Amino acid sequence: MKTNYKEALQHPIFEVVSRASETLNMPSYVIGGFVRDLILQRDFKKDIDIVAIGSGIELALKVADLLPNKPKVQVFKNYGTAMLRFEDTEIEFVGARKESYHFESRNPVVENGSLEDDQNRRDFTINALALSLNSKTYGDLLDPFNGLQDIENKTIKTPLDPDITFSDDPLRMMRAIRFANQLGFDIEADSLQSIERNKERIGIISGERIVEELNKILATETPSVGFLLLYKTGLLPLILPELTDLNQVEEIEGQTHKNNFYHTLEVVDNICKNTDDVWLRWAALLHDIGKAPTKRFNKKQGWTFHGHEFLGGKMVKKIFERLHMPLNHKMKFVQKMVVMSSRPIVLSQDLVTDSAVRRLVFDAGEDVDSLMTLCAADITTKNPAKYKKYHSNFETVRQKIVEVEERDHVRNFQPPISGEEIMELFQLKPSREIGILKEAIKEAILEGEIANDYDAAYAFMINKAKKIGLKINDC
Ligand code: CTP
Repeated sequence: MKTNYKEALQHPIFEVVSRASETLNMPSYVIGGFVRDLILQRDFKKDIDIVAIGSGIELALKVADLLPNKPKVQVFKNYGTAMLRFEDTEIEFVGARKESYHFESRNPVVENGSLEDDQNRRDFTINALALSLNSKTYGDLLDPFNGLQDIENKTIKTPLDPDITFSDDPLRMMRAIRFANQLGFDIEADSLQSIERNKERIGIISGERIVEELNKILATETPSVGFLLLYKTGLLPLILPELTDLNQVEEIEGQTHKNNFYHTLEVVDNICKNTDDVWLRWAALLHDIGKAPTKRFNKKQGWTFHGHEFLGGKMVKKIFERLHMPLNHKMKFVQKMVVMSSRPIVLSQDLVTDSAVRRLVFDAGEDVDSLMTLCAADITTKNPAKYKKYHSNFETVRQKIVEVEERDHVRNFQPPISGEEIMELFQLKPSREIGILKEAIKEAILEGEIANDYDAAYAFMINKAKKIGLKINDC
């Protein structure tokens, strides 16, 4: 196995850190994700972690001093860490510690330690690998926990007893799962069992940190792998119970319904092939959450989930609040996707009329393409004939959207006649009649009775006004 990575340390910062270390007589190492990704030949990350056997802050200041542009050093005194930016890369400096407090910032007490002390308190053996930046041993791999072997074996494993590592920072339970998902690794049995044992401790972790991991899982090619691990270890019901509530199949009078939990995971994997938008991926994850609370059985229709989309939209907001996710347009977008998630599917199952498509484009507005992507992913039927039929009908819907758009421009619908104009024309104060006329014009356009232009709308409006007894102001 390779033990020196000198040629791989090509980033110009390493040579500078090495010189700074020498000047200060303070050994330093590059450690963590950078080394892991370098060995895995994964795309290089944007940040580099340097551990100093001494003061990370002092080393950072020296490095900045040696760099031609003398970058600003951000110092976090409480944590004994410092950060500077160099050529698009964030370089973090930390002094080697005996405790791993700095990962959760709960208890910023500094006790200096050796490199091995520091490696000990890191999350996984594959993240504890360090490369020397010291002149005599430059590029040497320091790997006291056989992290390299674990990379080869594709194993996620804690350096210490997993109960200790996870109790240092319970978020690491999710990190284990996220890395397993991202890298296609397995979590070693002891570490996995420890997650099951310690799952309740996730309760002390902030929503923001949890969501960061969920987002990274959702950003993988097959998030179902991560979500199934979250489910099997018992973390998922603690984080997103709305999702695990879907994991049930009931049978009454011989009639069952599909398991919407596994269906959802399939939809998420499907959508990942067609979009990188993490919010659309969230929408896929949450699109059916209203189904557990709305599920009913009646003899005539069998299983129904009436209004699940609407309730699901409301649940989205609660989840975003609970997990401290942004309550802005991103949340609104996810809500809108969930609320509308069944619309195109209905269209794809039947012969589709222009007016139905026009209404879909009108209601979805700018997000119609995202909605179509979500709904295509939602087709998970295992019946090949149905699968083919739905997808081909779906293509028809997509084509019609383009045609209808070219002709009628309803995506960002602006009423062709304004309320002010109506008021002036009929000498009206703000009143119900204006609403009636505007709504009638909009409906006529969506139904395809008139074109979406001024002249057609004007003629239609005059006619309608007559019917409700309005007279034109001709002075
Ligand atoms: N680390 C840790 N425990 C944590 C977070 C981080 O031990 N809860 C250590 C690991 O050694 C990790 C390093 O700090 O490699 C850097 O952390 P971070 O940047 O969060 O993760 P990376 O491993 O760099 O990977 P990614 O950027 O994909 O999250």
